[in-house]
Amino acid sequence: MTSVKVTPRGAERWVRGHPWIYRSEVLGGPEQPGLVRVQDSRGRFIGQALHSPRSEIRLRLLTRSEDVIDARWWRQELVRCAARRRDIDATACRLVHGEGDALPSLVVDRYDRWLVVQILSAGLETMREVVIEGLIEAFQPEGILLRNDAPVRRREGLSPTSVPAHGIVPQEIEVREGPVRYLAAPWVGQKTGAFLDQRPNRLLAGRLMTQGGRGLDCFTYHGSFAFHLARRASEVVALDSSHEALARGATNAALNGLTNIEWREADAFEALRQMERARERFETIVLDPPAFAKSRSSVPGALRGYREINLRAMRLLASEGVLLTASCSFHVRLPQFLGMLIEAAGDSGRRLMLERVLGQGEDHPEVLTVPETGYLKGAVVRAI
Ligand SMILES: C[S@@+](CC[C@H](N)C(=O)[O-])C[C@H]1O[C@@H](n2cnc3c(N)ncnc32)[C@H](O)[C@@H]1O
Repeated sequence: MTSVKVTPRGAERWVRGHPWIYRSEVLGGPEQPGLVRVQDSRGRFIGQALHSPRSEIRLRLLTRSEDVIDARWWRQELVRCAARRRDIDATACRLVHGEGDALPSLVVDRYDRWLVVQILSAGLETMREVVIEGLIEAFQPEGILLRNDAPVRRREGLSPTSVPAHGIVPQEIEVREGPVRYLAAPWVGQKTGAFLDQRPNRLLAGRLMTQGGRGLDCFTYHGSFAFHLARRASEVVALDSSHEALARGATNAALNGLTNIEWREADAFEALRQMERARERFETIVLDPPAFAKSRSSVPGALRGYREINLRAMRLLASEGVLLTASCSFHVRLPQFLGMLIEAAGDSGRRLMLERVLGQGEDHPEVLTVPETGYLKGAVVRAI
């Protein structure tokens, strides 16, 4: 196996708990991607890593041991990841959250008996066969879809593709999340077919919903929060700009026997303004917008967007009503998000209590020394 030497700064990064070593911290290296042995500047072995010769992130730490990285090794690691999720009451969840599970650039999402996998680095791409073999041995899935259409692959010199890697993967898969069932769309849906990261927050929203009250699920996608609200609400308005997602939402509602959801295809900014003008009131409101900040430079504009929708939602709250609000922008960190909420609350004319601070589900583990593993943050605020 090829060896790659790294600078003291690169080696220090691993010691301090971050698995990436950057281009400027690597002393040479092969032209081809693959698994490499890594040495410090004095030539001592410090670990094995995935090497991506065209990426700014040159090395991703796989193990600090000398273990043979074969299908058996992958199976053991995958079983370890799954064991951490054994208490999750859902048939869809993330089994591997890349760097968050110490398996960098690998995402594995489970949808009932099928797996949807993302291989997000050139180094890992060279290990595709053994990873798939390890997945089959560990979980015996009916099918595995490689949903490799994520834009980050381009930075690795990899092309976007979605191809089955094992068995047959259906267009839609019915899954259960606590008391709710829904159809995920692994081939064409957003992310790997559903937004799994909000699972515990959706269950929480269901518990927060006042019996017989009105619910509003803004940015509903295929109805994910709306179903949990609708089990207790008299009616729920579920709003999204995606026609396809709403169509699946209506099918999902039927699957759950729910007839109290009004599906609205609309721009949320405009719809919230209109509802405020009409003096509508809701007992529970969910705001789960797409990432407004795609880069660090777009954070100020994104914060203005978050502030606007949160301000309007706060004004739409009934007395004692709750707002569950989130941001999945990695670049907007929790203190900025809470600062934005404080400003919106100040402008809203309402008295609002911060009831909870939220994060991503435990199947999307956030490593303290790897900030890139955390992106979803949120809060529950109550009008008092
Ligand atoms: C983060 S996802 C929502 C996920 C969903 N709440 C869930 O838990 O599955 C964001 C959603 O916002 C929708 N969206 C994007 N821009 C929008 C806009 N201006 N108005 C309404 N919906 C929008 C997208 O179609 C997408 O479904």
